[in-house]
Amino acid sequence: MEPNTGNLRRETWGSRTAFVLAAAGSAIGLGNIWRFPYLTGQNGGAAFVLIYLFIVLLIGLPVMMAEVSLGRRTRRNPVGAFEGAAPNSAWRNVGVLGVITGFAILSYYSVVAGWTLAYTLKAVTGAFTHLTDPGETGRLFEHFVGDPQSVLTYHALFMALTVAVVMGGVRRGIERWTFILMPILFLMLILLVLRAVTLEGAGQGIAFYLKPDFSKVTTATFLAALGQAFFSLSLGMGAMITYGSYLSQSEDVVFTTAAVSLFDTVIALLAGLVIFPALFSVGGAEPTAGPKLVFVVLPAIFQRIPFGGLFGGVFFVLLAVAALTSAISLLEVCVAYMTDEKGWTRHKACFLAGGVAFILGIPAALSTGASTFLSSIPLLQMGFLDLMDMLFGNVALTVGGFLLCVFVGWRWSPEEALAAVMEGSAYPSLGRPWFLLIRYLCPLAIGTILLHLLMKLLV
Ligand code: PHE
Repeated sequence: MEPNTGNLRRETWGSRTAFVLAAAGSAIGLGNIWRFPYLTGQNGGAAFVLIYLFIVLLIGLPVMMAEVSLGRRTRRNPVGAFEGAAPNSAWRNVGVLGVITGFAILSYYSVVAGWTLAYTLKAVTGAFTHLTDPGETGRLFEHFVGDPQSVLTYHALFMALTVAVVMGGVRRGIERWTFILMPILFLMLILLVLRAVTLEGAGQGIAFYLKPDFSKVTTATFLAALGQAFFSLSLGMGAMITYGSYLSQSEDVVFTTAAVSLFDTVIALLAGLVIFPALFSVGGAEPTAGPKLVFVVLPAIFQRIPFGGLFGGVFFVLLAVAALTSAISLLEVCVAYMTDEKGWTRHKACFLAGGVAFILGIPAALSTGASTFLSSIPLLQMGFLDLMDMLFGNVALTVGGFLLCVFVGWRWSPEEALAAVMEGSAYPSLGRPWFLLIRYLCPLAIGTILLHLLMKLLV
């Protein structure tokens, strides 16, 4: 049966490179440079990194292939994609979960992205240069996130930027951002790595980051690594289904998804190779410092670079752009759903989704020090931003990824799934192994980890 293709004259990407860049733009963002280092720090260092790499290869990449081919086959947003592949079934709810998750992630993602905008300004105006004691960069951060007016202003600014780009549509909006700016970010990261590893006392940081200590590994480590793989590769909520829906049938899903996963992983690894040597060398924070880690460590290292203020400014701007290309994909999922399924105009969908995500982000923005009201509520003691990140950035994505594997491995017919992933591919022999991973290993591994989490919550 022909899949339900919905909007037949759907826009497609200008070229394969355009898809790879846009998907890489979605994947590369705060997840790599902000979230990966702090999770690595909180989860014991090198052992976490190793587990993460295995998960990316054995779970992340196959799941990305599944998402992209499901989107490409059905040519729809995540809800429509499940609907098209399994008409009139409850599976469409997996798509709905994805849309909600994307929306929830966008709300606090924009808050942290707002911090990077603010830090751009701080770097170029020399706010870091007079901080001699590394502890002072920590105080600068606390001071900044404790000011409700600034955090909300930058949150609003970032959300407005996201809405503006998504409003432009796929071709004109998303494609062009990634082309020039991501390579520059990459080069700057390499320069930062070179500076960080040659700092005095960097060796201890390198050891923490690269010498695994397996005694620190628990189930929580696996859950954190799995959630991070989904978060960083933009999986489990339909972003890759949506981007796949704009991909032409003649493109190679294996090649493109492998390229995206590789870029994403290399960037995250480089970010860690900046943060940990610098952290152990200049101090100013503990590896377990959490979400503030990079905002405390990076300014400290910019001071040890000639023209550090300028360098830092450019770096934070690029980080903001990387965050923007990710936020675009989060919003695009909601917008594609509303325009495809509800028949809304793109303008209306962008404004409404962006506006509501902004409002939902307000408690997250205020939870890092600007208001003590929320943390006085028993369930919210860990901080609203951290809570949202745990619920949506980790658990919901993992559940979404699990259901996607079950769907593609068991509900979609094997022939259909294989045909969808292999169409246009130069690597037909990889179809079978991929299908076995999606049918057995991925759901089993993800399911086991989720079950552990559930049992821990219950007892
Ligand atoms: N992958 C993005 C990042 O690493 C975040 C993201 C998550 C984007 C989920 C889309 C979907 O910053």
